Amino acid sequence: MGRVALVTGGSRGIGAAISKALKAAGYTVAATYAGNDEKAKAFTDETGIKTYKWNVADYDSSKAGIAQVEVDLGPIEIVVANAGITRDAPFHKMTPEQWKEVVDTNLTGVFNTVHPIWPGMRERKFGRVIVISSINGQKGQFAQVNYAATKAGDLGIVKSLAQEGARAGITANAVCPGYIATEMVMAVPEKVRESIIGQIPAGRLGEPEEIARIVAFLASDDAGFINGSTVSANGGQFFV
Ligand code: CAA
Repeated sequence: MGRVALVTGGSRGIGAAISKALKAAGYTVAATYAGNDEKAKAFTDETGIKTYKWNVADYDSSKAGIAQVEVDLGPIEIVVANAGITRDAPFHKMTPEQWKEVVDTNLTGVFNTVHPIWPGMRERKFGRVIVISSINGQKGQFAQVNYAATKAGDLGIVKSLAQEGARAGITANAVCPGYIATEMVMAVPEKVRESIIGQIPAGRLGEPEEIARIVAFLASDDAGFINGSTVSANGGQFFV
């Protein structure tokens, strides 16, 4: 059995592609999901990847869920904090609830996911923390004050963890996907989506597997000196 990898939001969209790529690379993968039992079961039936249900926005649930994964599969050595949501609205219409839901899931959710795993990584002197941020955390986005703030915050988490973990053999890196063909992007009104595709020099949306391959590399031993980085994959839409 290979190293154990945890992927939050790992049964759908980019997360599902990451779970599958890590399994194909020889890791023992646990994928979390928040709500849809039926889809999670179908994912397990299709891939053989074990799924676990908890809300990353809740610290105690995350801690208990992570403890269960470690009982079932062994110590988690790779953690991919991927779970994320959108609640898009122009700022003048954005409600405090829309702000809070997104912050709790996309930003506090990363803390809740990595914090319970971190002490074990320090003890074992090995770890890979990979956070899925977004192009919109780098450039901002109309109607995404909440989402962009959390995705920019995720980069701050990674850059700080990189410094804290380096001497303990732990790396922390972020991946910033551009617009990828997932349910999240398909939920954007078609006219808006067409105009977004028009802003991508590659002329197309990205594929979830194009993000998953980056994550598999960052998780590997070959990536041991990459620490605190932000890897952008956006078809040329934005350069930092
Ligand atoms: N830039 C400038 N103006 C924009 C705009 C943009 N990107 N998008 C919309 N507008 C304009 C509209 O044209 C409209 O102007 P008019 O009134 O003059 O026609 C105005 O802003 C918005 O109008 P509404 O008050 O009707 O807005 P709404 O309350 O209906 O909200 C919306 C609509 C939520 C903004 C919708 O357009 C939307 O979902 N936009 C997409 C936002 C987006 O890109 N989200 C990314 C999701 S994918 C993702 O997040 C994954 C990732 O990491 C990349």
